[in-house]
Amino acid sequence: MARSAPTLLAPAPAGSGLAPVMGDPGLPYLGYALDTIRDPAAHFRRRRDRYGPVSWGNFLGRPIISVQGPEAAQTVLGNPEKAFASGPGWHFFIGPFFERGIMLLDFEEHLRHRRIMQQAFTRERLTAYLERIDDSALRSVDSWRPGRARLLPLFRRLTLDMAMDVFLGLEPDRARLRRVERAFMDAVSAGLAFVRFPVPGLRWSRGLKARRELTDFFTGHIPAKRAQGGDDLFAVLCRARSEDGERFSDTDVVNHMIFVLMAAHDTSTIALTTMAYYLARHPEWQERCRAASRAVPTDRVDIAVLDSLTDLDLVLKESLRLCPPVPLLPRVAVRDTSVLGHHIPAGALVAVTTYSNHRLPEHWPDPERFDPERFAPERRGEITHPYAWSPFGGGVHKCIGLHFANLQVKAVMHRLLRSRSWSVPEGYTWELDMSTLPVPKDGLPVTLAPPDPAP
Ligand code: HEM
Repeated sequence: MARSAPTLLAPAPAGSGLAPVMGDPGLPYLGYALDTIRDPAAHFRRRRDRYGPVSWGNFLGRPIISVQGPEAAQTVLGNPEKAFASGPGWHFFIGPFFERGIMLLDFEEHLRHRRIMQQAFTRERLTAYLERIDDSALRSVDSWRPGRARLLPLFRRLTLDMAMDVFLGLEPDRARLRRVERAFMDAVSAGLAFVRFPVPGLRWSRGLKARRELTDFFTGHIPAKRAQGGDDLFAVLCRARSEDGERFSDTDVVNHMIFVLMAAHDTSTIALTTMAYYLARHPEWQERCRAASRAVPTDRVDIAVLDSLTDLDLVLKESLRLCPPVPLLPRVAVRDTSVLGHHIPAGALVAVTTYSNHRLPEHWPDPERFDPERFAPERRGEITHPYAWSPFGGGVHKCIGLHFANLQVKAVMHRLLRSRSWSVPEGYTWELDMSTLPVPKDGLPVTLAPPDPAP
């Protein structure tokens, strides 16, 4: 941990009554990147103890103001004064690889695109996607043989197979899937590359190459999609219109497809892996969820069946609390503004610290404990702020795929619970690799077995 003398980022305007943001730069160039990646909860706790909830530190050559706690999250994400922009914030991390994805658009333009994209996430569309999700879940999970297995790569493949089918309407073709999977992983991991310009063979340059491959891949499929239509998200985006009759250009469709696939694939993989981890460490919860899944009288799932799996819902919520797939949300201040009484100068890069917010002891008693019942209706009063739990963000950029993700993750878990049990050795705890989005370093090795016969 680097530790240098506290300095202020910029003086607060005279007479404003605001406090300046205090902090320190950390290591040359890296700043606090290594601390943030190694253990974000501990890093942000140290910053809170030293500076309070708003402080600055360098991160890969740039000062970032971390704003901690649910009130700060609400100010920045809720953004009532339109003082924060998402595009330039995310651009620092993923811009060159996911350019003009919807999360990188702001204000009027974002709203126009979001209205068109919303057509792809109506209840009617979700019902149609769910049939394909369920087919795909059944095919994948049934092919997982009993014995030792690493769940992270299995879930990654499953969600990508699903994305190819539900989002693109393409039959899973192993060779093509592997190329697209590689390209997405390269594009995502480039975001936190330490060397942030193209050097052949390094992450940044692989990310740019991946972006070109993905653009070619989606562009190549546009004419057929526009001509044939279909039920998949790609076809829906090709024909979607806003209330004013506006529709997406080919370039818009390609940019949005690349972004949505990235946004959907890794996040759902992490949610599934986290649930599987906690259910392996807490077999009593695995059995409780299995009993409910087995009690479902039909073999097909629909929205009503998934809604009835309330224990699984609690486990999903608690898993997203303990390991939110998007641990930090960046924004840039588009003009001078304030957070929790601190002056934020125009142009400052700001980060909402979801991962550590989900562990604040004042909002989450015994925060490291896996306790799904925190979310049970009887204990609802314990969650005292609307942004205390915010794995899907908030405000105008709140995850558009939230309901899709809930259905997808629950449908896969339901299938898995019905056809397999899984366990980890006594005392096993995972170590997370936070160098992109949080994933277990060892891929989460488990023993898969047929579940005990139903009592
Ligand atoms: C458990 C799974 C998921 C989690 C935890 C998650 C989390 C998030 C978060 C935190 C944001 C807001 C980012 C910000 O404000 O800076 C977001 C935005 C977004 N998510 Fe998700 N997501 C998940 C699944 C999905 C899925 C399945 C899809 C698509 C089917 C999706 C599509 C999107 C899109 C398009 C945005 C950008 C929305 C906008 O900027 O208007 N996500 N997601």
